Amino acid sequence: MKLVMFGPPGAGKGTQAKMLVEHYKIPQISTGDLFRENLSRQTSLGLKAKAYMDKGELVPDDVTIAMIKERIAQPDCKKGFILDGFPRTLPQAKELDKLMKIDKVVNVTSKDETIIKRLSSRWLCRKCGAIFGIDIPPKKKGICDKCGGELYQRDDDKPEAVKNRLKVYYENTHPLIEYYEKKKLLFTVDGEQPIDVVFEKIKMAIEK
Ligand code: AP5
Repeated sequence: MKLVMFGPPGAGKGTQAKMLVEHYKIPQISTGDLFRENLSRQTSLGLKAKAYMDKGELVPDDVTIAMIKERIAQPDCKKGFILDGFPRTLPQAKELDKLMKIDKVVNVTSKDETIIKRLSSRWLCRKCGAIFGIDIPPKKKGICDKCGGELYQRDDDKPEAVKNRLKVYYENTHPLIEYYEKKKLLFTVDGEQPIDVVFEKIKMAIEK
């Protein structure tokens, strides 16, 4: 199964992708996480990406496409995977088409005001990547429920960067909705519903 999680920043793509990983036992490939991992290891790719990510801009297509090609060639992707945050531009989508046939594109939607509110109160685990927020706060402040790791807030979750991420989304990424609609691959789910409800609807669409 080859899925794409699509939608604006903060709509809940990562939250749902992690639940799908547990359910279907296939890896989540998040381009944002790959860039952040590279940055924590201070690789040249990570340092290059940081300049774009801090401002909420997209990392150039050539860099992103090369990184994704390398990742999906890994053995753990043989049975399928969940792409989270890729593709985000038409050139990325066309490149993905050249590489493989995608089974479904899950478009998680949310209102801009909800997104800004959610991202300003999102906490992530440095160790296992678990996501916490207003609706799922950690039991102990600053500590991950799942692994005890340290929780942190992303630099690009500051309101100014979020506003730019939304602008970039509407300009560059939103047009892909039509691209995937024409291919009859798009399933849209309202990400304003409770997390479990969103998950059930995605699962039903995948298994239909
Ligand atoms: P990336 O890391 O992919 O960020 P994003 O797409 O902006 O998405 P987020 O991770 O912010 O949000 P999400 O939709 O996963 O929401 P989440 O589940 O965490 O990209 C970061 C940067 O990397 C980009 O800006 C760009 O610079 C670069 N980049 C990445 N991919 C690229 C590409 N392909 N090309 C070029 N550049 C690229 O949820 C958010 C919060 O809401 C959480 O607190 C969660 O608990 C809460 N929540 C989730 N669902 C619900 C719900 N149903 N109800 C209530 N709360 C909810």
